[in-house]
Amino acid sequence: MKNVNLLNGIFKDSQEKGKEYLIYLDVDRLVASCYEAASKITKKPRYGGWESTGISGHSIGHWLSAAATMYSLTLDLTLKEKLEYAVDELAHIQSFDEDGYVSGFPRTCFDKVFTGEFEVDNFSLGGGWVPWYSIHKIYAGLIDTYQLTGNKKALEVVIKLADWAKKGTDKLNDEQFQKMLTCEHGGMNEAMADLYTITQNQAYLDLAIRFCHKAVLDPLSKGVDELQGKHANTQIPKVIGAAKLYDITGDEVFKRMAVYFWTQVTNHRSYVIGGNSINEHFGPENTEELGIQTTETCNTYNMLKLTEHLFHWSQRSEYIDYYEKALYNHILASQDPDSGMKTYFVSTQPGHFKVYCTPDESFWCCTGTGMENPARYTRNIYYRDHDEVYINLFIASEIYLEDKNLKLRQETTFPESDKTKLIFESATDESITIHIRVPNWVSGNMIATVNEQESYTYSENGYITIKGEWNVGDRIDIQLPMDLHLSKTKNDPKKAAILYGPIVLAGALGTEDFPETDILADHLKLNNHPLIEVPDLITGEEDLSKWIKPIEGEPLAFKTAAVGQPGNRSVKLIPFYKLHHQRYTLYWNIMDEIAYQTFVDKEKEDADRLRAITVDVVNPNEQQPEVEHSIKKKNSRSGFLNLFNRGWRDSINGGFFSYEMAVLSDKPVYLLVTYSGNDASLHEDGKAHSREFDILIDGSQIAHQTLHANHPGKLFDICYDIPLTLTNGKEKVEVKFASEEGKVAGGVYGVRVIN
Ligand code: AHR
Ligand code: ZN
Repeated sequence: MKNVNLLNGIFKDSQEKGKEYLIYLDVDRLVASCYEAASKITKKPRYGGWESTGISGHSIGHWLSAAATMYSLTLDLTLKEKLEYAVDELAHIQSFDEDGYVSGFPRTCFDKVFTGEFEVDNFSLGGGWVPWYSIHKIYAGLIDTYQLTGNKKALEVVIKLADWAKKGTDKLNDEQFQKMLTCEHGGMNEAMADLYTITQNQAYLDLAIRFCHKAVLDPLSKGVDELQGKHANTQIPKVIGAAKLYDITGDEVFKRMAVYFWTQVTNHRSYVIGGNSINEHFGPENTEELGIQTTETCNTYNMLKLTEHLFHWSQRSEYIDYYEKALYNHILASQDPDSGMKTYFVSTQPGHFKVYCTPDESFWCCTGTGMENPARYTRNIYYRDHDEVYINLFIASEIYLEDKNLKLRQETTFPESDKTKLIFESATDESITIHIRVPNWVSGNMIATVNEQESYTYSENGYITIKGEWNVGDRIDIQLPMDLHLSKTKNDPKKAAILYGPIVLAGALGTEDFPETDILADHLKLNNHPLIEVPDLITGEEDLSKWIKPIEGEPLAFKTAAVGQPGNRSVKLIPFYKLHHQRYTLYWNIMDEIAYQTFVDKEKEDADRLRAITVDVVNPNEQQPEVEHSIKKKNSRSGFLNLFNRGWRDSINGGFFSYEMAVLSDKPVYLLVTYSGNDASLHEDGKAHSREFDILIDGSQIAHQTLHANHPGKLFDICYDIPLTLTNGKEKVEVKFASEEGKVAGGVYGVRVIN
């Protein structure tokens, strides 16, 4: 990566913008939570958003990774100084702890866990919010800083931190360790594997293997997909760690996990932009359910990392086909070119818009991976294996092979042009085989000429192979035929996205009823902002070029004929990576006149109706919605039921669970609760526990509910009146489900305040 430079173009611009934000961020504010965790006075106040919550400290970790990577590419001295200062600060804070703990939250949750007696669920451990996830970012940041900038102190700090983890987790038996891994733990196995590679200390390799979560990885190693309903970004790093462990140990089991997972996610669980997940979770296989909270950006950052491993094991173009799709259509599209701010979810809801973080008040997970993305654009453009060089991506750049004194320059404005050329800027009769990727989207013969002669062969792995002895001035010209085509969803052939080559063309739907700003501290704030009507495209013409025409003078912009219905509208299409601050759609309903006459989008109509009356909604078992609605619970459990493709929550043994939910301060609202029609008594400990519970608003009972399994095989809703006296003058209330000893509250599959 260090030997590759970007040349002017869309990636270089985005890299520059990304660098500005890294320089803007104040290390004193980023490490403030670490000072507080060590009970010391901070130099400056913490940042807001997630940096002011229990997950704090993840951002300094991401920043270290991002700044170290960016420094290694640009050699920017300001970044270097800031990096050194950040490492010095972390070392200083670490010196306050006798075991070498340093992180953005107190160590009490870990101390509790290390006793072996602890509570855990998917997102909380020993009372902390995803503590290993958050501290993992600090491990990764310090490791990257050492590896990419040679900062030895960073290595010392991370080794002490690893020794603290080892000392604590040594107290856990294997069962307790695996129980601990129920809670999201980022790429802890990867970090320990990296430390082993750096230090050759066997203890870190052993710990890396202990950090492998068997409940998820074992089925993958057997080719069994149990991903539906699982929190997506929790799982991907576990698999990246497994891939690293294959590199270290050569144990094929790790490789099988990675290859199977990658294949399932990219082929059966991804959207057209290469992202995955709805409300952070994997849905059923081969579905692309549209929504506002889809394609979390962290997931794609992680999937690109995983893809890189697979490509290193086997140089097949299909890996880069995915990589390219996700890089252009999700990663590049996720940074606002004006403000440099990043997306969290990328909405696939027709008529919605992108929402970006603020510089100081968000610090979502994706703000963190979003800091790293622009520093990673040089990765995988090229791949070198001894005397073989693979040209994977058509990005303006140059690569220098020091040992051969060979410099190759790739000049292109792809995807605006369908050509790229490779020029040997320095070379001394070197014998090197050049492999040029033949993408899956080329619409005709891909042609390469070497010094204007055609001389190449197609290889089975999806590359053109050119053997040669290269000299200064030699050049290879490559023609990459592109066309307009559809990507149809697997579960509904009417629903399709429009692409040109690898580029997803989004409908640029303008700024009608657009919010004042789409740069938000709270990413949920505009989830209920009214949508606009998105036309269906009604035509029987299968040749897209007949009804979608390029717009003169606007590269990669197109206009449809007046096929948008209702209203005979013509719509503008532009690359999704260029689309910011306006409404869009990625997917369309496309059908002919006859099908349109009887077409009713029932799903959309129902969703629109519900949306229009929704004041607030929580999906149980989904971490962000639950955390962001200040969940409180006692003896509460949650899970996911494939049958309904929905999460649930209940409480047992006199327990409860509650959410803080928005209401209208001056108008009556109702509570709509979703239950399973299969639920009646729960049989546990040899007894039947009836599902009988109270529903309370700010402590006042509004209903007593019993479930009788009287809607078999279905979910059903009950709507409860909320007396105005309980909501008058308030913005939020606590909605609580509670049962007596021996009874069960729930399962609840959805909670919605409506008006
Ligand atoms: O829980 C930490 C991160 O926050 C998750 O990985 C991401 O999905 C979430 O939003
Ligand atoms: Zn994220």
